[in-house]
This record gives sequence, structure tokens and C-alpha cells, in this order.
Amino acid sequence: MTERTGFGSKLGVILATAGSAVGLGNVWRFPYMAGENGGAVFIIIYLACVLLLGIPCMISEFIVGRHGQSNTARAYSKLSGGSPWKLVGYMGVLTGFLITGYYAVVTGWCLQYIWASFIGQLQGTPDYFKTYFAELSSDPVRPVLWTFVMLGIAYLIIEHGVRDGIEKASKMMMPTLFILLLIIVVASCMLPNAGKGIEFLFKPDMSKMTGDVFLSALGQSFYSLSIAMGCLCTYASYFSRYTNLTTSATQIAIIDSVVAILAGLMIFPAAFSVGVNPDSGPSLIFITLPNVFSQAFGAIPIVGYFVSLLFFVLLSLAGLTSLMSLHEVSTAFFQEEFTLSRKKAALIVTISTAIIGAFCSLSLGATDILVFGGKALFDWFDFITGQIFLPVVGFLTCIFIGWFVPHKVVREEFTNWGTLRSEWYARLFHIYLFLVKYICPMAILFIFLHQFGLLK
Ligand code: PFF
Repeated sequence: MTERTGFGSKLGVILATAGSAVGLGNVWRFPYMAGENGGAVFIIIYLACVLLLGIPCMISEFIVGRHGQSNTARAYSKLSGGSPWKLVGYMGVLTGFLITGYYAVVTGWCLQYIWASFIGQLQGTPDYFKTYFAELSSDPVRPVLWTFVMLGIAYLIIEHGVRDGIEKASKMMMPTLFILLLIIVVASCMLPNAGKGIEFLFKPDMSKMTGDVFLSALGQSFYSLSIAMGCLCTYASYFSRYTNLTTSATQIAIIDSVVAILAGLMIFPAAFSVGVNPDSGPSLIFITLPNVFSQAFGAIPIVGYFVSLLFFVLLSLAGLTSLMSLHEVSTAFFQEEFTLSRKKAALIVTISTAIIGAFCSLSLGATDILVFGGKALFDWFDFITGQIFLPVVGFLTCIFIGWFVPHKVVREEFTNWGTLRSEWYARLFHIYLFLVKYICPMAILFIFLHQFGLLK
């Protein structure tokens, strides 16, 4: 087999992995959840979930990936000595694979919206935006083509390898994304009545705090950090012996959380300024926000034009960096398990996920054949991966690392073979192990049981 090339720099590690974490989830779910569920109080709970549960789970995946120096399936297999634990790795790969197709559909819509903003189509009444999105998502041709374009772009980047493809692209895309975000935040916060939106996002309201909110914060933090989909494990297999796993996980989590909070500052001031009630999910970004931007900046149409255009470029970049990481999970798997060239492996993944994506897209209105049990295929993928596979893989990974892998091996990875020697790391390792052994699996089990109504 050819020598594996890893990330070339620390910055590359952070930006590529943060690129996986920063995605549509930061923009379409976090801000709304924060606003609806107690503002600053929710944000504090969310950050606590990231710190106490998200970061330890991320480190665990890093440990499996870097130890294995191979795709996720083989990495679990190596660390488990070929025992049935390897199935968790296969499940991680399968989760990543299944998500790739439907995530590509949504990022494909972003491309259509870039085009629509560019040619000045994103202007009109609120109803116009509703119809525009309904027509696009149920169209049998356009969204399928945009899905192919998005996967094609991911292919071109992935095919160039980890250092020349993923790392280089992330180093360009992540700073651009951040600059665009700041531009729109400033524009949004300068609107009249912007303060009300800022208040909605940050005003602490203890009365909204329920067990449900806590569990939603936990679920969102896992999704947002790309936990349990094979991505973190695959990327970690490209880390060097010197990559400090704890520092990297913390930096990535900070970037992800800052982007989520900034996304709130981009959305709410503009929405409140024109008196529109924000919501979440695809309707927020494809119906509500284009309407908000067109109204809010209506007095100076050119500003509205650019804000809307830049917003969809930003979303496409956020989506693309996450899509790349998902694509890489399966590409590395095919490349290493079937001894294929990177090009061939990437092509197989692109074509097969394009087929899945096309079916997901068609299930949203073009045909009824792809709707089962009242749910479109698109929603089935979302449900099975996000609500079943994600908690199962996350839970089993914690049990695996916490209870089955010899602590000596875990400690070696955690402390970079004893080179991170201070007292501080010894203490940190004990805290990490305690969280991974007891707290993380219990918390994940709670979310899982709760979402199926088995725990009230
Ligand atoms: N973390 C991404 C987001 O917040 O949109 C979504 C995601 C990407 C989840 C990659 C999982 C993954 F493996």
C-alpha cells in the first residue's frame, strides 16, 4: 500500500476538522434553539455539554483514529484486536456514507440560492419565497443537478489527497467563511431595532429550562461537533504523533461554538428588525432569511443583494467543508479496504452518494414512490443517521475506549507517548477517563431513550 500522507501543519489540522464541525447545523439549528430555550442560559448549558461531553467524545474518536492510522472501520478493528468492536467502526463508516448523500442535497440548494441571488431572483413577498423553495425542493431536475455539482466539487478536492486537497481547501475556505460571517453580522447588527434580536438570543430566561432543553442541547452539540459519523476518526488518522489531541479538540470546539453564536448575531437582529419570527431548519435558511434580507436592506437594495449573495456563499462553504469530511470517511474506507487508487475510491463514493442524494431529493415531492410510512426517503436518512446511528456509535465508542481498550494505550495517545508530561496532563487524563467511562455514555443513553419516549 502507498505511504499515507497526513495533514502538513497544526493549522491544517484545526481548520480542516473545524471545517467538518462548522456546517449547516451551526446556522439553522443552534441560534433558534438558543433564542427559544432561554437565551444566555441555554448557551451556557450548551457550552457545558460541549466541554464535559462533546470534547471527551471527540478526543475518544481522535484516539481511535490516530492509533489506527487508517480508515474508521480498520481503526476500530486494530484497536480491538479484530473483536466484534470493529463493527462500531463499520457502523461509523456507514453513517458517514449515508449522510453524505442527503447532506449534499441541502448544500446543493445553497448553490441554487447563490445563483438566484446573483441574478437578482431573491426579491419578493414572503409568499414568493415560500413558493420559490417549495418549487425548487420538489423539482425533479434542478436540485438533483445541484447535488451532483456539490458532490463533484467535493470529489475534485478529495481526489487531490489530504494535504493538497482537504487541507489546502480548508485553509482557504474557513477564513473566507469567517470573514463573510463577520461582514453579515456587522450589517445585521447595524439595522434599526437590531437590539431586540440580540436580546432574544442572549436574554437569560430560567423559566424555559426543562429536561427537554438540556437533552436538545446535548444532541445539538454532538451533531454540531460531527461526533460519531466517522469524520473525526478519519481525520485523526491523518494527525501526526505530535498533534496534541486535547488542545486540538478544545480549539475546534471553540471555533464551532463561536461560529454558532455569530450565526445567531447574523440572523436575529435582521429578523427582529423587520418583525419576522425566526424559525429553524431548512425553512429558516431558504424561506425566512432570504425574505428577511430582502426586506431589511430594502432601503438600499444593493446592500440586500450582496448580503443575500454573501450569506449563501457562506452557507455553501460551511456545507462543503462538512461534506468533504463526510466524503473522506468512505473514500478512505474504499481506498484502503479494497486497495484502490484514491481517485477510483473517491469516484465510487461520489457516484454512489450522488445516487442516494438523487433519490433523497426526488423523495421531496417529485414522486410518491420514495415516501414510506409517511416519511420521505430524505427524512428517513436524517432520522436513521441522526437519531439512531449517531447515539449508538457515540455510546459504543465511549464504552469501548472507557472500558475495553487498555488504559495504557489510551494514556499513550492522550499524552503523546508521555511527551505531554506535566502534572496537569496526568490530572486531565483522569478527568477525561471518568467522563468517557461514566458521564458520556449515560448522557447519550438518556438522549436516545428520551427521543423514543422511553424516558420522560
Ligand atoms: N457538524 C456539521 C454541522 O453542524 O452541520 C454536520 C456534520 C458534518 C455532521 C459531518 C456529521 C459529520 F460527520
